[in-house]
Amino acid sequence: MSNDRLGVGFIGSGFNARFHIQGWVGVRDADVRGVWSPSARNAQAAASLARELAVGEAKAYRSITDMVADPAIDAIWLTGPNHVRVENVEEIVRALDSGKGELRGLACEKPLARNVGEAQRLVELVERVGLRTGYLENQLFAPQVERGKALLWARGAALTGRPYLARAAEEHSGPHMPWFWQGRLQGGGVLNDMMCHSALVVRDLLTKPGEPLATVRPVRVTGHIASLKWTRPEYAQRLSKTMGSDVDYAKSPAEDFASVVIEFETTDGYRVLGEATTSWSFVGAGLRLSAELLGPEYSLSWNSLDTGLKLFFSREVRGKTGEDLVEKQNAEVGLMPVVANEAVAYGYEAEDRHFARVFLGREEPRLTFADGLEVVQLLMTAYQSAEQGRTLEFPPAGLDAFVPAVARGAWRP
Ligand SMILES: NC(=O)c1ccc[n+]([C@@H]2O[C@H](COP(=O)([O-])OP(=O)(O)OC[C@H]3O[C@@H](n4cnc5c(N)ncnc54)[C@H](O)[C@@H]3O)[C@@H](O)[C@H]2O)c1
Repeated sequence: MSNDRLGVGFIGSGFNARFHIQGWVGVRDADVRGVWSPSARNAQAAASLARELAVGEAKAYRSITDMVADPAIDAIWLTGPNHVRVENVEEIVRALDSGKGELRGLACEKPLARNVGEAQRLVELVERVGLRTGYLENQLFAPQVERGKALLWARGAALTGRPYLARAAEEHSGPHMPWFWQGRLQGGGVLNDMMCHSALVVRDLLTKPGEPLATVRPVRVTGHIASLKWTRPEYAQRLSKTMGSDVDYAKSPAEDFASVVIEFETTDGYRVLGEATTSWSFVGAGLRLSAELLGPEYSLSWNSLDTGLKLFFSREVRGKTGEDLVEKQNAEVGLMPVVANEAVAYGYEAEDRHFARVFLGREEPRLTFADGLEVVQLLMTAYQSAEQGRTLEFPPAGLDAFVPAVARGAWRP
């Protein structure tokens, strides 16, 4: 263990791990040194990506325990699927408990867990071994969100009063891997998968820079979920064909649209609103992230598809389908927006820089597992509200044991 540089190992080598590795180009005081994934080939591929990008002499490990035991690894970034979160952390904690290795920190992707019970278990595990944590929510670190928030609070809010309404949305045409579509594995549908981002973005925008999120406390939640597209018979069939027979939306659907209104009480005595929408039924150029923040004399608006770079391809250009212009790209012809550096634009680079410095003891964490747990509590309240068709006080009774109908395979839209 060195005091100057942090050696980081990844659990998982999929879509998300690759985004982090690309973002690592902008991280100055940490190296990607390892990857573990159940498929040795995929782990090798992610490790060679890190070496090609010169972000670390990464190698593939045979097990999580081996990676924790290597003194070159100081911290772990957890990017496996949601249904193995608990077992991944149990193995890390077993390795630490038995003295096989030491770690300075553990950073975990969103959502922290599939439900409150699992999220609480993770918090207990890391607390037992005294491990510092980071909750990876990249959108808070997106440059437009950070800069826009800072300027708006410094000019507009300082002179005319705090903001009162924040909006956020994340929309695309559906996830890339079968497990996301299966409520039992993923924990729900698009609400669990993507509302974790938007619910935290609205709260963060409403929070004065430098102050803790606790100064903007959620008190009432109204959730709504729906299946707008993927239970239509022709789309349910298409989904089974592309994702495999385990994804059967005629029998076990998950929501492809969710909305939530969160009422917050602020320590400066206001009631303010967060309004968020997420969707797997949006067909546009590709992934669209957006946010707004409104106050008495000002407003902010951000849309990740307003990129400043557009390419036009005539109908004569019949290239292969790809994701080279924008994440979750839906077309290759016509006027297409291009996100020139997605790892920067979506906040991965600044997020990874921050958490590397946190585990080196150079910055205080903006988000820990405790914040991840609170996000899961909000999401589960939104599911409860949607199931009951009414607004709920936060936190509602029975939250710790609650598992959404979608995750139990019992949801009938
Ligand atoms: N911040 C974001 O915007 C964002 C984007 C995508 C995914 N995510 C999150 O990142 C995580 C991974 O998603 P993804 O898109 O990379 O999925 P993915 O399916 O593309 O990759 C998952 C990886 O985990 C590996 N894996 C399989 N079984 C495992 C096990 N038992 N233990 C550890 N790893 C295992 C797979 O081999 C694969 O490499 C999820 O929790 C997801 O919610 C976050």
